[in-house]
Amino acid sequence: PMKIEVTINGTRRELDVAADAMLLDVLRDHGFFSVKYGCREGTCGTCTVLVDGRATLSCITLAGQVHERSVETVEALGSVDRPHPMQRALVDAGAVQCGFCTPGMLLAAKALLQQNPSPTRAEIARALDGNLCRCTGYAKILDGVERGAAAMRGEP
Ligand code: FES
Ligand code: FES
Repeated sequence: PMKIEVTINGTRRELDVAADAMLLDVLRDHGFFSVKYGCREGTCGTCTVLVDGRATLSCITLAGQVHERSVETVEALGSVDRPHPMQRALVDAGAVQCGFCTPGMLLAAKALLQQNPSPTRAEIARALDGNLCRCTGYAKILDGVERGAAAMRGEP
């Protein structure tokens, strides 16, 4: 076991973790169930979180690697009552079907928009190309991220 200090969604925490514990499991063990367990081998993107603002696959990241760093999950974005503009846009675009891929998509989109608030559709597709979706065929997700980016820029 080892002790790590990590800021999760703005709250500093001290956690006891096994040396081989993956960040995905530690987050879910602490109630961050938006972080989805998909392939567990770094290929589907459902476990994406932000580490110091960068999209990171939590299934292939050791919990010890986030010591003294900042982790963000979808729980920090919004809620059913108060959705983030990107959450609202994905719903409005019909980009949420089973929803399993959605948290990872949201965080990959957020990481992109922090770097580039006005991405082209091709840039959005490139930023999300590590996130798989079995339901939507992707076009609606791209539509949704375009709408969400516009909303975040304050455009109608
Ligand atoms: Fe992490 Fe699939 S569960 S990439
Ligand atoms: Fe079902 Fe994307 S909405 S996997």
